[in-house]
Amino acid sequence: MSLEKPFFGGNWKMNHGPTAARRFVGEFVERYPARDDRTVAFFPPSISVTEFRDAAAERPDLELGVQDVYWEEAGAFTGSISAPLAKDAGARYALAGHSERRHVFGDSDEDVARKVESIAAAELIPVLCVGERLEERDRGDVEAVVSRQLEAGLGRLSSEQIVNMVIAYEPVWAIGTGRTASAEDANEVHALIRGLLGERLDRVSVRGIPIIYGGSVKPANVDELLAEAEIDGVLVGGASLDPVDFARICQAA
Ligand code: PGA
Repeated sequence: MSLEKPFFGGNWKMNHGPTAARRFVGEFVERYPARDDRTVAFFPPSISVTEFRDAAAERPDLELGVQDVYWEEAGAFTGSISAPLAKDAGARYALAGHSERRHVFGDSDEDVARKVESIAAAELIPVLCVGERLEERDRGDVEAVVSRQLEAGLGRLSSEQIVNMVIAYEPVWAIGTGRTASAEDANEVHALIRGLLGERLDRVSVRGIPIIYGGSVKPANVDELLAEAEIDGVLVGGASLDPVDFARICQAA
């Protein structure tokens, strides 16, 4: 870990409606006292964001984000939310390019680029997710895939906007499968990402961008991941649904 403040994200995916979100907050705040040496951000389903915000009203240290946006600001786009709407609901972050959006819902690199652009334009912090599938890893294409997704995802941003974002490396084969990339393998890809950012930005700015790892992160493996020089935090799916597990994860490092 090279950042002063590690980043811990909990991506609830399509879990925890408003009732469960409120219960979660009650249990989590008892186990995780506020600390200013780290960032903890939750990505509930958008229908639970305001409930989360209200339940955690006394804990402004717990940040909020949404899992996806459509790139238009407003209009006739049934079923979608936009970055400005997310901001109004209390979000500070928004994911873009999560592997489930790419591979279940068909988001292309260009779609992801537009989403990232709209998130930054709304002055939210984009969390751009990149990561290869198993067949791509087996073919030796990790670098090609991750570089392509990263270049595309940053393509519509100015350097000032890139400095204010988070990159999540999430190998698709490690998400929800119980298989984690080894800490060294993940670190290598993080170093690649850091290098690519370095082609656009100066060294000091690059060091300030959190590059976080996602894919079956658990209380049992978080320390090992965060011990790597290039891993600045984690994006947690399954284990973030449990307030006990996630409170433990957020106190690592
Ligand atoms: P997982 O999900 O922790 O359940 O593997 C991670 C993610 O998709 O962000």
